[in-house]
Amino acid sequence: MRRPTGCCPPTLRRDAILAVMARPSAALVLHGPNLNLLGTREPAVYGRASLADLDRLIARHGRQRGVRVVSRQSNVEGELVTWLQRAEREGFFGVVLNPGAFTHYSIAIRDAVAAIAVPVVEVHLSNVHGREEFRRTSVIAAVARGQIAGFGPTSYLLGLDALLALGTDGVPRARARPPGARSSR
Ligand code: DQA
Repeated sequence: MRRPTGCCPPTLRRDAILAVMARPSAALVLHGPNLNLLGTREPAVYGRASLADLDRLIARHGRQRGVRVVSRQSNVEGELVTWLQRAEREGFFGVVLNPGAFTHYSIAIRDAVAAIAVPVVEVHLSNVHGREEFRRTSVIAAVARGQIAGFGPTSYLLGLDALLALGTDGVPRARARPPGARSSR
C-alpha cells in the first residue's frame, strides 16, 4: 500500500505523531486555598508573583509545548474534588495540582485523585519537606503520579512537563536518545 505523501515532515516519528494526535490538548491546573493571595502572602516563602502572573507563566509554557492550559483556584475542598472528578469528561489529559494546606489532611482530595484515570502531578511552590513538621506529610503524594516541590513557579512548569512526558497510556515514555547516540539494543 502506498503511504500518503506530503502530510508530515519525515523527521517526525510515527509513534510521536500518533501520541500527539491521541492526546487531548488541554491540561488543567488547580490551585488550592490561599493561593489566590500569592504576591502578598508570605512573600519570603511564596515570592512576589501574583496568581495571575503565575497562570500567565504556565499558559505561556503550555503554548510553547502546543498545550492549552486552564487554571482554576478555589478555597473550597469540595470544589477541587468536583473539578478533579470532571477532569476527564472536560477533556483534560492531566492535572497539575497544588492542593495548598489540603495537601496535609484532605482525604477527600486524596480519594478524588485516586478515583480518576487522568494523571495528577502534585506541585508546591515551597519545599514542604524543609518546613514545619506538619507540611512534610502529604496525603496526596501516594496517589499522585509524583510530587514536585521547592522550585517556586517553576514547580508548575515541571509538573506540566512531567504530564507531557507520560504516554497516552499514562506510562512515562522512554527518554529520547540524544542526537548521534547509538541504540543499546
Ligand atoms: C504550598 C505548601 C502548603 O504547605 C501550604 O499550605 C500552601 C502552599 C506550596 O505551594 O508551597 O498553601 O502548597
